[in-house]
Amino acid sequence: MNICVIGTGYVGLVTGTVFADLGNDVICVDKDAQKIASLKQGQMPIYEPGLEEMVQHNVADDRLRFSTDIAEAVRESELIFIAVGTPPKDNGETDLSQVEGVAHDIASHINEYKVIVNKSTVPVGTGDLVRQIIEANKNCEVSFDVVSNPEFLREGSAIADALYPERIVVGAPNKSVAMKLLELYASMERPMLITDVPSAEMIKYASNAFLATKISFANAIADVCEAVGADVTQVVKGMGYDHRIGPEFLQPGLGFGGSCFPKDTDSLIYTAAKFGVDIKLLRNVVEINQLRVSHFLEIIRRGLGEIKGKTLAVLGLAFKPNTDDMREAKSVELINSLLEEGATVNAYDPVAMDNARKILPHINYCANPYKAAGGSDALVIVTEWREFKLLNLEKIRDSMKSPVIFDGRNIYNPERKRRLGFTYYSIGRNNSY
Ligand code: UDX
Repeated sequence: MNICVIGTGYVGLVTGTVFADLGNDVICVDKDAQKIASLKQGQMPIYEPGLEEMVQHNVADDRLRFSTDIAEAVRESELIFIAVGTPPKDNGETDLSQVEGVAHDIASHINEYKVIVNKSTVPVGTGDLVRQIIEANKNCEVSFDVVSNPEFLREGSAIADALYPERIVVGAPNKSVAMKLLELYASMERPMLITDVPSAEMIKYASNAFLATKISFANAIADVCEAVGADVTQVVKGMGYDHRIGPEFLQPGLGFGGSCFPKDTDSLIYTAAKFGVDIKLLRNVVEINQLRVSHFLEIIRRGLGEIKGKTLAVLGLAFKPNTDDMREAKSVELINSLLEEGATVNAYDPVAMDNARKILPHINYCANPYKAAGGSDALVIVTEWREFKLLNLEKIRDSMKSPVIFDGRNIYNPERKRRLGFTYYSIGRNNSY
């Protein structure tokens, strides 16, 4: 099939590349000429395992192209995917200006029947909005359909998530257009749900809100465990064996960040309120999440006596492992508070330091965890990169001013770390101050 994907952000670039890999002819379009020029040279704008190789391979096989020419892309494609950004406004509302802009562009260049597919995460009703914009502004008498096909991929495992999705959701206005999407995805042999457009739009928000709820639930339980002397790691493990609960997204710690959960929970709260529904549950989920860093800071304060004048080695800056994405990363709030309280921060992250430098200019960036830890008063784990689990902690211990660990993601076994001579604090487990 001839496909164009408008927007080469995380979702657009990954899904466009995967569509090409499935044997389609794909044009990935972006207004950002510099980004397109870099992509043409094989340079990825994001760090995502496996992406560069897949792009190169499909470009070499002539199935994948990058372009700034939206007119040509629209004319040549039967399926037009919208995958532009939908950032949050200050009040939680989703800023749809980029989606609206693309709808206007499509209206200007549409020349025959097209299927327009919304992949961006957009509030319920946006499919209808896109349809209305194109209908009102199209410059010739052509028909078209607007479909919702939300994307569920995660950063860090985006390629595998896009190639082997747990489900494919298609919100279509009629059967024949649903068949077009079925045809596109058939070779993946994954479960598919065909539904109406508003339901598909809601599935995306409800899914992310539910996962965010699981995380905040685990964090709320962690606080109780900490107070009563239980071990939250054991508690969530015991819960997760029940298949109705499941073990995933029950990892307590500093809470959720990234480009999706914080904005999608806010957006759902906002949309619901607009329709007169107050989702109190979700407001609590967000509040619990917002309190995670201050809770961790309290543990650090109590553990160190005072933060002022201390040197802290922060390991992990990205909002989660396997990404260089700093959006809504908990490291930012934490480090800013540590600096405000008079600490010196040495930091290390395997891939996010270039992005972090722009947001956190006043910390020392170190070449590796050992350099960060040398001479410090404590090690602070913020992102659970695998390499931090494999560190030579004896070497670290011997190089530190005092052997203290504050583990914001519970990556270590408390007993083992204490046996190694560390004073060890973590989340939802017995912290003896
Ligand atoms: C998420 C959804 O998982 C994905 O389906 C959707 O398409 C986009 O949003 P992503 O933001 O890439 O993906 O990250 P994810 O792996 O879901 O983690 C989100 C945040 O939750 C991270 O900050 C992570 O550290 C945190 N998290 C996750 C926890 O704190 N505990 C957990 O148990 C799981």
